[in-house]
Amino acid sequence: MKSAIILAAGKGTRMVSKKNKVMHEILGKPLIEHVVNNLEKSGVSFQVVVVGHQAQAIQDHLEDRVHYAVQAQQLGTGHAIQQAKIAKANQGSTLIMYGDIPLVQPETIQALFKHHEGYDLTVATTILDDPSMYGRIIKDEAGDLIKIVEYKDASETERQIQEINTGIYCIDNQLLWKHIDEISNNNKQKEYYITDIVEIFYKNNYKINTMIVEDDFEVMGINDRLELLTANQWLQNKINTGWLKQGVTLIDPNSTYIDPDVSIGIDTIIHPNVRLEKLTKIGENCTIYSNSVIINSTIANNTVIDSSHINDSKIGSHCKIGPMARLRYGTVISDYTKIGNFVEIKNSTLGYNVRCMHLTYVGDSEVGDDVNLGCGVVTVNYDGKNKYKTIIEDGAFIGSNVNLIAPVRIGKNAVVAAGTTVNKDVDEGDMAIGRVRQENKAGYGHKYTSK
Ligand code: UD1
Ligand code: CA
Repeated sequence: MKSAIILAAGKGTRMVSKKNKVMHEILGKPLIEHVVNNLEKSGVSFQVVVVGHQAQAIQDHLEDRVHYAVQAQQLGTGHAIQQAKIAKANQGSTLIMYGDIPLVQPETIQALFKHHEGYDLTVATTILDDPSMYGRIIKDEAGDLIKIVEYKDASETERQIQEINTGIYCIDNQLLWKHIDEISNNNKQKEYYITDIVEIFYKNNYKINTMIVEDDFEVMGINDRLELLTANQWLQNKINTGWLKQGVTLIDPNSTYIDPDVSIGIDTIIHPNVRLEKLTKIGENCTIYSNSVIINSTIANNTVIDSSHINDSKIGSHCKIGPMARLRYGTVISDYTKIGNFVEIKNSTLGYNVRCMHLTYVGDSEVGDDVNLGCGVVTVNYDGKNKYKTIIEDGAFIGSNVNLIAPVRIGKNAVVAAGTTVNKDVDEGDMAIGRVRQENKAGYGHKYTSK
């Protein structure tokens, strides 16, 4: 079994924030969630997150996807591992990593497990032009890893070393727990460093290995907001470049935000300033114009979305949505339907070839095929206490400025005249009209408008 211990108890002082560092987001997801997702994708089946500072926020976010261990006082990364006793009985290899390394790709984690075969400890390292504050990798003449020295404890010569500790380790779980209590806090920061485990293993003649990660961005630790920005740009660029290679046109990748789990069909064109979030699926040959936000929704092929906000909805093929439409949870729209400007739809099903072009609210409704909803139609679904359903059957024509007071049913091919307030069902083929009869008063206009 592959297990992992993830450290996330520290505050993250360099972030200058009231929030725990690992709850800061890149591409709309907290750093810690990226880590957990990447570990899951690489086949790790048992994850313990060590929490401390704002533990509740992390637990509320990750829920029961992982196990938790609490480090009440943050005495260092080695001390944090000691708290993860829930992982003690596990056999096989344990991956140790920090919650502030969100970009490491599942393939890299898998490669590390592979590299580790036949070893007791493998440290993922990388080479940096500017190794700044990272821990330095100290090797002997044969090139074998002896120890890791933290920047603050390093000598001038050690600080020249460009190979650094990424903070990702693969370790034999039984040996980890056998020796974890040997770590001391005899260093500049008076902290218990997990990095000391390397020297302990070395002195015990255990088999130690390193794996150099080629792309150093992948293993960057996020400590401040500048690094947060860099990480966001790196991930955005990686995802967007991937879609360009897979036949999707992005007019301006710098202002296009696509979550890692989104899928997009070929020949789809995405204009600037678009967000595609969560498990959104966009079909082939769609056009998504600027200022659209699509969350957790499915859009079939050949559909056009313009400046619209869509969440938890399903839209058919050859549809036109927007500009400025808002489709909320539970909206299901069939093929060839058009939704125009300032239309809001919620928890409703619309059939094939429906026209709903202007200033309309459709809530808790079932709308059939070939229905026309005129400008300003409102389904009055809420009486202040309960919500009620509106049913509009195939071919019905609802004129402009109509209130449909639910629960109500408009039959097949029925017509509702403009300005009508409907509070009784309308049978198939009938017409409902209910409005005050107009009276024209001769000359009254002049009286009011002339000075
Ligand atoms: C750490 C490594 C350093 C490495 C770098 C890579 C140590 C001692 N140093 O340094 O060698 O180059 O990461 O990014 O391990 N944490 C706890 N409890 C604690 C302290 C920290 O859970 O008591 C967590 C933090 O929440 C954070 C992670 O461990 O997510 C790393 O801590 P951080 O302070 O960022 O370590 P670095 O100084 O970056
Ligand atoms: Ca760090």
